[in-house]
Amino acid sequence: MTRQKIVIDCDPGHDDLVAILFAARHMDLLGVTTVHGNNSLANTTRNGLITLELGKLDHVPLAAGCAEPLAQASIGIGEGHGASGLDGASVPEPSRKPIEAHAVDFIIETARAHKGELILAPIGPQTHIAMALKREPRLKSWLREITIMGGSTTTGNFTPAAEFNIAGDVEAAWAVFESGVPLRMVGLNITRVTGFDEGDIARMRASGKAAARVIADLMEFYLGTQKARYGLKVATMHDVCAIVPYVYPDLITYLHTSVRIETAGALTRGMTLCDLRHPKGAQAEHLRHRTAPNCHVAIEARSRALADAVLATLLTYD
Ligand code: RIB
Ligand code: CA
Repeated sequence: MTRQKIVIDCDPGHDDLVAILFAARHMDLLGVTTVHGNNSLANTTRNGLITLELGKLDHVPLAAGCAEPLAQASIGIGEGHGASGLDGASVPEPSRKPIEAHAVDFIIETARAHKGELILAPIGPQTHIAMALKREPRLKSWLREITIMGGSTTTGNFTPAAEFNIAGDVEAAWAVFESGVPLRMVGLNITRVTGFDEGDIARMRASGKAAARVIADLMEFYLGTQKARYGLKVATMHDVCAIVPYVYPDLITYLHTSVRIETAGALTRGMTLCDLRHPKGAQAEHLRHRTAPNCHVAIEARSRALADAVLATLLTYD
């Protein structure tokens, strides 16, 4: 069976690293594109190259992109990932460089080459996705689906209303959610409680594998920041949650409903307003014109089974 084709647009980022390594094992990872977000573009690009070298994924191209959001000021780095964006382990500087192509052009050309097959996975701010859709409107029909780590059906993390990836480029997110492209969204309501605990990190170390040791060091650092900043109990694996369902479809349950991006709220800018009212019958018709379903939103997950599946994949790297 041919493997599903995916491009990951990311801002590595401890959880971005895990998402890349997971996708590369189970899917046809056609490329990685790096964007501003958890850290500067220079650092997310460096960290993306480090990830590919850690996984010995020399055949996977990396294209760098935008250092800033479309039309807002940068919201600053995601401190949870440290000064470099990938603190916690001593890793060599990457030996290769990004390809010449800009991330936006790489996304368009890869979708053109695989019409109807490409899954695009933005797991950082969606600057490139919005730019690509504007630059090449036919992208809408070339893409199979866009699977997003971002937003929340409940609370945010950057603000009480806004999740970091959405807050990082609100107008870009608005353009993506209004684009009409088939969308999946896994938000903080799922990802805040999904990730690696101390036992998982001990299992990584016990494997005796070099890659697992580096990942364990990274996860130990990240678990520390998640506990200190948010009182969480796991090293939150936000990003891989957007990818796992293509490999293990029964681990996350989605609801097809309306998700709109708040762009103007004084207190709620960057909120993903998810319609969870499940309107039925006449009310549904009355409301439908204002909240037509545009996205499959993750509403439940088997978090422990998901973490186990991702850990098992990470342990296949030497
Ligand atoms: O809010 C979580 C998201 O922000 C994840 O993608 C994490 O990597 C950071 O980018
Ligand atoms: Ca990310």
